[in-house]
Amino acid sequence: MTAEAVKVLTRAGEVFGRKLELEHLPWGADHFLQTGVTIPKDGYDTLRGFDAIFIGALGDPRVPDNRHARDILLGTRFELDLYVNYRPVKLLDERLCPLKGRGPKDVNFVVFRENTEGLYVSVGGRFKAGTEDEVAIQEELNTFKGVNRIIRHAFQFAKARGLTKVCMADKSNAMQQGHALWQRVFKEVSAEYAGIQATHYYIDALAMYMVLDPGQFEVIVTNNLFGDIVTDLGATFQGGLGMAASGNIHPGKTSMFEPVHGSAPKFAGKNIANPIGAIASAALMLETLGMTKEAAAIDAAVARAVRENQVTADIGGTLGTVEAGTSIAKQIGQVEG
Ligand code: IPM
Ligand code: MN
Repeated sequence: MTAEAVKVLTRAGEVFGRKLELEHLPWGADHFLQTGVTIPKDGYDTLRGFDAIFIGALGDPRVPDNRHARDILLGTRFELDLYVNYRPVKLLDERLCPLKGRGPKDVNFVVFRENTEGLYVSVGGRFKAGTEDEVAIQEELNTFKGVNRIIRHAFQFAKARGLTKVCMADKSNAMQQGHALWQRVFKEVSAEYAGIQATHYYIDALAMYMVLDPGQFEVIVTNNLFGDIVTDLGATFQGGLGMAASGNIHPGKTSMFEPVHGSAPKFAGKNIANPIGAIASAALMLETLGMTKEAAAIDAAVARAVRENQVTADIGGTLGTVEAGTSIAKQIGQVEG
């Protein structure tokens, strides 16, 4: 999928006369198994030297604890302080949506997932591990700074796009400490945006309403773990994990773009995986870098591939990964959305 995203990026560069300098870093499971290094000591500094980072899916059964994924993906989110996880949920064609009777006009929202704290910080520990007395503690970290900046980002995004609805989801009825902070900040920030309707759902209710009535959502903002979960749900509305794109963003700084899906080892090397999630993530990267024409051209080429069924089998086509990528690349600059 990554190779197809690179193919499409390169093509977009050619069509629009942009010189994109791509550097390939070998970090991943193969590299770790050969060298014992997940990411080199100066790896995060190396990453900071680029305008943007594009990353393929991580996870490999040969590395049972997936420590390379943790160091490379989560490590980069933390070290580069990529606090916005931007995950658009946009349905391109009714036939791809598992929700009865729902079409593109019903499924078009974005999720902002807090990306640098919450339950992902790995604060805690295990005591008497491996015994019947084992105690395992995993703390959820919520800071004013962290909650404030992601909620503000959601409102600013809505305002900049002319959207009028922001929904915050937490579990403040049960998690009465950390999520009281989310409540407080959401009330304070929403009060500054008079033109925007601010709604709150508990996360369980959000999951229900996403399925029952996805059309009510424009912008959803939530914490790290809840955002992880509901964006897999959102991906199914788009035609599955193979379709979903994401950006790990620190506005104004080097950001990292990746498909929402994992590595699906059982499909690896078979030329069957859907490259659209990776390709659409490349488009998000260009959009974030300010190359909006290039990004729109990629999105239009993807939309056409879906319309004309020039896609992989997971979404009803007959093409292989490479052929689907080539078909999209060829259409860049030829079709309009
Ligand atoms: C994602 C993934 C990661 C996450 C995993 C691989 C740690 O599921 O990007 O959504 O939970 O953030
Ligand atoms: Mn996930």
